[in-house]
Amino acid sequence: MKLLYPTSLKLDPKLLEGFGASLQSYNVKENIPEEHTDAEVLIAWCNSPDNLKDAASRLKNLKWIQSLAAGPNDVLNAGFDPKAIAITTGSGLHDQTVAEHTLGLLLVSARKFHLMRDSQTQGKWPGNLGGPQPDKEPGTFNTLSEARITVWGFGNIAKQLTPWLRALGADVKGIARSAGVRDGVQVYSEDNLSEILKETDALVMILPGSDSTKNALNAERLKLLPKHAWVVNVGRGTCIDEDALNSALDNGEIGGAALDVFATEPLPESSPLYKQKNVVLSPHAAGGRPRGAEGLIAENLRRFLAKQELKNAL
Ligand SMILES: NC(=O)c1ccc[n+]([C@@H]2O[C@H](COP(=O)([O-])OP(=O)(O)OC[C@H]3O[C@@H](n4cnc5c(N)ncnc54)[C@H](OP(=O)(O)O)[C@@H]3O)[C@@H](O)[C@H]2O)c1
Repeated sequence: MKLLYPTSLKLDPKLLEGFGASLQSYNVKENIPEEHTDAEVLIAWCNSPDNLKDAASRLKNLKWIQSLAAGPNDVLNAGFDPKAIAITTGSGLHDQTVAEHTLGLLLVSARKFHLMRDSQTQGKWPGNLGGPQPDKEPGTFNTLSEARITVWGFGNIAKQLTPWLRALGADVKGIARSAGVRDGVQVYSEDNLSEILKETDALVMILPGSDSTKNALNAERLKLLPKHAWVVNVGRGTCIDEDALNSALDNGEIGGAALDVFATEPLPESSPLYKQKNVVLSPHAAGGRPRGAEGLIAENLRRFLAKQELKNAL
């Protein structure tokens, strides 16, 4: 049984030994060499669309793809036969890095570091942002203490993030497909979205990209947010209607947006988001460093060989 692992990140193949699998590295930006088209397992990370499309047509023995991305949209769009090939995600490998980035974006939004930096690069002292300031004024988002933070998409990353937000005094609620209490947080279903959005100071979106999440945050829902509320998106760009977001920003319907993901990446230079004063952009920089990938691959390889249910299966 052959397993192909990518050279697009540093993996220690020694940690995958002992399963009787033949381990072969491959370049994710080139077509897989003919002698490796008999592989049964493909580990994917940052593959080019052409590489995946080619693999979908030439790897006839393929039975399982382990993506190291939490949201493997690239693999899902490549044309692999979902009936013949199991796909597992890298959910869990990005919890720390994405949660840390999200916390950073929230703090930038609340403390207005982006405006300070804007002034700095113009050689100006942003006097209005310093000195005595009102604290915890209703209708403002300038601290995480007592801030009402709604996390839409309450999975692994949200569970990592929540204790940090709570440590800073935030009041955290979740929204997911099913309601319940998760890790001590009240998670609501989308049936309650309208009432929760009205009472949100910062909306953190950590949704996967799929047909069901496309434009989840649309014009109608943006209007429900208080005028001071910020939107932070580290899930997938397709989950926000970017035209509606731009209009909401232009019309002062929301306080601002801190975005790591976009419907089209790189975000085209023509996007008005670049010019918005109250927008902070990061270039899909939250994740990008799967941690402990060997552990997940080894666990799933063991399960695959034992014909057990795979972890993180779609
Ligand atoms: N910016 C980056 O660099 C970066 C890095 C890693 C991941 N991500 C993105 O973050 C996403 C989440 O990662 P994760 O590891 O936290 O995933 P996860 O553990 O699978 O959690 C996903 C959450 O989204 C919810 N959800 C899914 N579809 C939904 C829908 N239609 N409506 C409402 N909620 C829905 C799920 O609800 P249930 O729990 O009720 O099923 C779950 O709570 C990934 O899919 C990926 O797109 C981005």
